Amino acid sequence: MFNKICIIGIGLIGGSIARAAREQGLSNTIVAYGRESGLKNLQLAKQLGVVDAYYTDMQAAVDQADCIIICTPVGAIEAVLTQLKPFWNEHAIYSDAGSTKGSVIAAAESVFGRVPKNFIAAHPIAGAEKSGVAASKADLYRNKRLILTPVAESCPHAVEKIKHFWEKIGSVVSVMDVEHHDAVLAATSHLPHILAYSLVDLLGQKDEQVEIFKYAAGGFKDFTRIASSDPTMWLDICMANKKEIIPLIQQLKNELGKIEQMLGENQSQQLFETFTYAKQARQRFLNQFDNAMSQSTTFNVQPGGSLRGEIRVPGDKSMSHRSIMLGSLAEGVTHVKGFLNAEDAISTLEAFRAMGVEIEGPENGEVTINGVGKHGLKEPKEPLYLGNSGTSMRLLSGLLSGQSFNTVLTGDASLSSRPMKRVTAPLISMGANIETEADGTAPLRITGTDQLQGINYVMPMASAQVKSCLLLAGMYAEGDTTVVEPAPTRDHTERMLNGFGYPVQRDGDKAVINSTGKLTSCEIDVPSDISSAAFFLVGASIAPDSDVTLKHVGINPTRTGVIDILRLMGANIEVLNERSVGGEPVADLRVTSSQLKGIDIPEQLVPLAIDEFPVLFVAAACAEGQTNLTGAKELRVKECDRIQVMADGLQTLGVNAVPTEDGMVIQGKTQDSISGGEVDTHHDHRIAMSFSIAGLRATAPIIVNDCHNVNTSFPEFRDLATQLGLKLS
Ligand code: S3P
Repeated sequence: MFNKICIIGIGLIGGSIARAAREQGLSNTIVAYGRESGLKNLQLAKQLGVVDAYYTDMQAAVDQADCIIICTPVGAIEAVLTQLKPFWNEHAIYSDAGSTKGSVIAAAESVFGRVPKNFIAAHPIAGAEKSGVAASKADLYRNKRLILTPVAESCPHAVEKIKHFWEKIGSVVSVMDVEHHDAVLAATSHLPHILAYSLVDLLGQKDEQVEIFKYAAGGFKDFTRIASSDPTMWLDICMANKKEIIPLIQQLKNELGKIEQMLGENQSQQLFETFTYAKQARQRFLNQFDNAMSQSTTFNVQPGGSLRGEIRVPGDKSMSHRSIMLGSLAEGVTHVKGFLNAEDAISTLEAFRAMGVEIEGPENGEVTINGVGKHGLKEPKEPLYLGNSGTSMRLLSGLLSGQSFNTVLTGDASLSSRPMKRVTAPLISMGANIETEADGTAPLRITGTDQLQGINYVMPMASAQVKSCLLLAGMYAEGDTTVVEPAPTRDHTERMLNGFGYPVQRDGDKAVINSTGKLTSCEIDVPSDISSAAFFLVGASIAPDSDVTLKHVGINPTRTGVIDILRLMGANIEVLNERSVGGEPVADLRVTSSQLKGIDIPEQLVPLAIDEFPVLFVAAACAEGQTNLTGAKELRVKECDRIQVMADGLQTLGVNAVPTEDGMVIQGKTQDSISGGEVDTHHDHRIAMSFSIAGLRATAPIIVNDCHNVNTSFPEFRDLATQLGLKLS
């Protein structure tokens, strides 16, 4: 990419750029410039192999260089530009790594009269408390943000080239104007540093400092971590950006003043709301941050192995959602055990917190919900962000249609592309006021009403989400709401409503509800999710010499299609210790290896195994003979098009898998079933876990890209799978 990169100032920041550029092969030569006084550091950089050569003479350093990056403290940049001016090369690209950009642009204007068109200011948002070239590392910028702040006269080609350079190093590059950059960084970086320094300063000045630090626990350590940063550098940054920082300090003082007043006047509700709002805002930030930064989570699965051992997979996702919804609408305090602490269920939990419900946990799977009663929810201050969770959005759309306030429901890119008309159309026929985008997708804008009317709805597809949505709306509608399903679907909503004492009549394919009931708090014990267990039911079936016991799994008959299908294929699955826990059947499942055979999957089992098909396709690839799936069109509108994405991935892995409109035809093989290769998850957690399981019968490593989404339903997957013997890193 470049012939010669010259780094001016080779400490942690510059050294890490040099190391990363070398690792990625982005330059033939990399050199450093430094002052005589920094000779030792330059020598160390050469000795460590960070640079090929170093200079204390600027002309020699930049000779023939086509990329010059200034990595000195921001306060020194004007002096460096002055030194560079006599040797300025119109054909080279110049950049920097300073944390403030207004001061850097001002320095360039002062030295050159205007910003040179080939000087593109940049700020990599990465650092460490350590400093010096010895602490530099090639991955400092990987998955970190980098902001470019070109100006009007900047050469677009130079902007593109430096952007490409940083992307190669692994950064996530954004472009913004200088003022915006400085305002954003003042709030998110400079002010927090000032706060950390000032808190430690305040406590350190106290007489009893020894005592204080002795008893200071994690909170103090976490909060003040950044006060270990280099004081010279931060002095420099704060002085350079004081124009933006001073008004923020003023705002912070006001905020602290408000909290002081709430404490003084015992305004505990306001204080609770302030803390709750902050907690939720932080969670939203973390979700966005994780999504933006962790797209690169890749599972690398080494071929072969067996699965052996006993595990308990996390709690059932469907039941975890419903426990929060019904617990919030109940009168009294509901305790939940076995709650799934994963992103989807947390989306529901946060939504109810945003509607004023006090919810404690999850802590070791336990959640306590202080129910507000059927009419006790409050209008949320902001749109409810539901992440990747289709269940949250579809069930909430029904529940919120009958409230006395308005709501907006949003989600991530995958959720925002999923069909919502299946719920909004019947809701509108009940009298709900609900708007979607033109193509029937989220955001959903709901204007609450007390005028809902019960309907008799025959669902065109077998969907538990649609059924549940309408039953929840039916709790607020006049007269009976009757939902008829074309085939049995999971019935957790009906069971749990009954568990809370709310009457729902069930008669064959019909469920009937009305608004006269009330929910009374109860104890809920959520069993392990059979959909998560399914990965190991298949894994232990296809991997030789396997023997796995999955404890405390929910075996509600509307969910056990995966066991039925695997047994039809010849799997050895024993159902042990069957018992009933809180109105739901539970058992331990023992599965040992077997030679599976291909089958025609009975269509009536499809809704009962709807989430398990990605991993069942892997089972089919390892079975003897052909497996045919039909009647499963719904798979095309899950978190991704699971028919297409699985067929594409399996084909990449050498499997003869042919997608059809409503299913797939797979020719299984008993030997060398699956080759190695690289597959994509299309942002779908179950695709990620299914292809990981495929590694057990692969002949070479499988690389599964974009696996961060596993956190939506099964954050412990990697740990539990490796504990059993899957070679996943
Ligand atoms: C769910 C119902 C199913 C399932 C989803 C969870 C539920 O969706 O795929 O993972 O909790 O009600 P459909 O209703 O779209 O089939």
